[in-house]
Amino acid sequence: MKTIKNLDIKRKKVIIRVDYNVPIKDGKVIDNNRIVSSLETINYCINENAKIILMTHLGKVKTEEDKNKNTLLPVKEELEKLLNKSIFFSHELKGKDLEDKINNLQEQDILLLENTRHMDYPEKLESNKDVELSKYWASLGDVFILDAFGSAHRAHASTYGISEYLPHAIGFLIEKEIKELDNIKDKKKTIILGGAKVSDKIGVIKNLINRTEKILIGGAMCGTFLKSLGYEIGKTYVENEKIDEVKELINTGKIILPIDAITENGTKLIENITKDETIFDIGPATLSRFKNALNKTELILMNGTMGMWEESKYSKGTEELFNYLSEIDAKVIVCGGDTGSASKFYNFKPYYLSTGGGASLEYLEGKSLPALEIMED
Ligand code: 3PG
Repeated sequence: MKTIKNLDIKRKKVIIRVDYNVPIKDGKVIDNNRIVSSLETINYCINENAKIILMTHLGKVKTEEDKNKNTLLPVKEELEKLLNKSIFFSHELKGKDLEDKINNLQEQDILLLENTRHMDYPEKLESNKDVELSKYWASLGDVFILDAFGSAHRAHASTYGISEYLPHAIGFLIEKEIKELDNIKDKKKTIILGGAKVSDKIGVIKNLINRTEKILIGGAMCGTFLKSLGYEIGKTYVENEKIDEVKELINTGKIILPIDAITENGTKLIENITKDETIFDIGPATLSRFKNALNKTELILMNGTMGMWEESKYSKGTEELFNYLSEIDAKVIVCGGDTGSASKFYNFKPYYLSTGGGASLEYLEGKSLPALEIMED
């Protein structure tokens, strides 16, 4: 795969697709890890006197209202702070104003474009890799650098489409992610999974199960597993269509599930949960069970938190699990934005923090990521 150092970018208009899909609260970026991780590539382009055009998505845009909600202005502010430099911003993703801004760029200038997914409403142009949009965005630059590892599993106009029409290479962030994940890809590991959706992770579990010692399931996704065993799990989110697949996974004997949980009524054994309760966090007995399972493990992969850690009454499971991971000798790889934010919040220092959530898991499964695949030619 061509890397940025093998591409002539000197004084060129360089489009960099970054992944600044970061958590924002009250107009401020609350976890800047993905932005910090992109700085090496940006600084390299500055040193090469390039004119830099940054593109990224933020959240999903399905309505006009989502456009106001998912603006990159807070990201611009954070990036300016980190680079100690003013950067330009384009509200437009297509049109004269954007083109003028690009034509006026001087060497070492940076222009951040508004959320690429604004082009997903009213028509889904970005996410459907619209050909005209891909060509148009490619026409704005001389070369294309893909550094959005977290979005490399998406074949969208800005992650994949542009590469079809411009000389392209990967940036330093992707180079590093691939190297780190390749190191652990075939090693036996224990996986900790959380978050809400089973459907997002079922493929990962299936494909990794042979290279896995155990898989610990926390977060709301345990609901589907527990229901498949016949437990009442009340109002906890369930994906009924996944029940059969989940049963098969349990039959491998490698899945470790919660035995108690924190609901709106406090700590409850799973067998005592009633139909008007919800699982919001793992309970103390589950925590002990998980600790036992992790006790002699050398390599741990974590994606997802154990509960709604943003709310203090449901944060203990996640917090205490991180505390335990700090105490043991295992190498812990944390994948994904939300899990990364939680690890930072609890001062946990992983062996490696990957900027990718879904992308890292798919990469470790052995799937080829479309945006990386097109970088191969
Ligand atoms: C992520 O946060 O996992 C990436 O930015 C991809 O986001 P997406 O799932 O909305 O495509």
